[in-house]
Amino acid sequence: MDTIVVLDFGGQYTHLISRRIRDLNVFSHVMPAETSVEEVKSIKGLKGVIFSGGAASVYDKDSPKCDKAMLDVGVPVLGICYGHQLISLLEKGKVTYGMKGEYGITDLEITKEGSLLKEAGRTLKVWMNHRDIVEHLPEGYETVAATRNSPVAAFENPLKHVYGVQFHPEVTHTQNGMKILENFASGICKARKEWTSGLFVEKAVREARATIGNKKAVIGLSGGVDSSVSAVLMSKAIGRNLTAVYVDTGMMRHRETEFIKKTFSKYDLDLRIVDASDRFFKALKGVTDPEKKRKIIGKTFIEIFDKVADDVGAEYLVQGTIYSDRIESGHSKHSSRIKSHHNVGGLPEDMKMRVYEPLRDIYKDEVRKVAEELDMPMDIIKRHVFPGPGLGVRIVGEVTPEKAEIVRKASYIIETELEEAGLHEKAWMAFAILLSVKSVGVQGDERSYKYPVVVRIIESEDAMTANFTKVPYKLLEKISTRITNEIKEVNRVVYDITNKPPATMEWE
Ligand code: XMP
Repeated sequence: MDTIVVLDFGGQYTHLISRRIRDLNVFSHVMPAETSVEEVKSIKGLKGVIFSGGAASVYDKDSPKCDKAMLDVGVPVLGICYGHQLISLLEKGKVTYGMKGEYGITDLEITKEGSLLKEAGRTLKVWMNHRDIVEHLPEGYETVAATRNSPVAAFENPLKHVYGVQFHPEVTHTQNGMKILENFASGICKARKEWTSGLFVEKAVREARATIGNKKAVIGLSGGVDSSVSAVLMSKAIGRNLTAVYVDTGMMRHRETEFIKKTFSKYDLDLRIVDASDRFFKALKGVTDPEKKRKIIGKTFIEIFDKVADDVGAEYLVQGTIYSDRIESGHSKHSSRIKSHHNVGGLPEDMKMRVYEPLRDIYKDEVRKVAEELDMPMDIIKRHVFPGPGLGVRIVGEVTPEKAEIVRKASYIIETELEEAGLHEKAWMAFAILLSVKSVGVQGDERSYKYPVVVRIIESEDAMTANFTKVPYKLLEKISTRITNEIKEVNRVVYDITNKPPATMEWE
């Protein structure tokens, strides 16, 4: 498949560049800045390379760099922000410390249309995020756009097919940003638009067959869209060599086991249901630290898998990890670790099976498109996300079976009321969190001293950022009344009005 590689120089938007290229139906993926020129050259179907933005200055001692030969890999190269400055530095242009930074929306004047900014307009509002600037360009390069503070806001070297933009075309605030990326991907690189869900499925099936072959694999089915899509995809690839294991951890959603049985009975899967709730609660007894809880849940999970895997002779563990899970678990050398998602960071080092992640390079909405392509039922496709460690990360402090029951019931009330109000699809997730404090209330003329429940309803495009949903007060009131009426251990309900960042969606 024609491919555009994005080299990651540590920018906040690196993944987004690749994502935008894929939105143009051109396949793209991210590779570390340190990738060798030979490795990049050897990528089948390579049509272009993009140098991402980055937080450092090109003059910092430890700032990520690449070999100058990366500009001669035989395909066009585009530098964005830090990448734009790096190209200039590698080619012996002049990068200087800007007198003023440019942050946010800036007016750009296109001084020469060229091929990168073709038909993008004469003046554009673009999104900037930098201090260093390219002051002079080396021979062969020409300036095609400028802003007040950036004399070289975009450049081209048409003979060498090297291009640069100081602004971020991948960010939605940049006017005609997609047009500029399309000019690069389709106009300059001539990459074919081959990236569709149909082709993804074909490629994923082919890759899985080539890697796993006739060996056995197990997959942990949680009922979430990621693991469900992975299971159906993998069963298409390796058939009955795949064993799907649903582990009831005691921290699953309301009536999850029944849902799993009903949904997956239609597929030709070796489905095994393991009730391990006692074992999980025992392992979590007395543990309050969130990362420790995640690690314990991950480890217990894997031990159970190991047992099933031994029984079936599996050599592979298939996981529904998606791209945003990998970023947040700090998979990129230049990005920081937010929390260890159990299906990535919590895996024990001595695990016997090899991990296979068929959805590792795609985002949640792309996963849903793949589910449609695979003709999966709507109640899976539209299902809200559920974290690997389950309700364990929604109970602040020690996890007990009683607390799990409270948070499960409360979440079910929230989900049903949201569905009833027609707002289910607007939200990324809607759930309850149980706090470990208690507060005073009055119920039936008597003083009560019980737990509060936090209601979290949140919207997001790709899990990287999120906003709390501005639901009607009437709906919140109904949720609150139902929770305090139907769950005897709760006497107070609060609504979480924090976005991500600064908070994360889950509380732990
Ligand atoms: P946060 O809390 O990091 O959540 O803002 C982002 C999204 O990821 C889900 N999440 C997880 N998914 N294993 C998973 O498979 C995990 O350990 C995990 N932790 C968080 C979370 O539910 C949200 O949709």
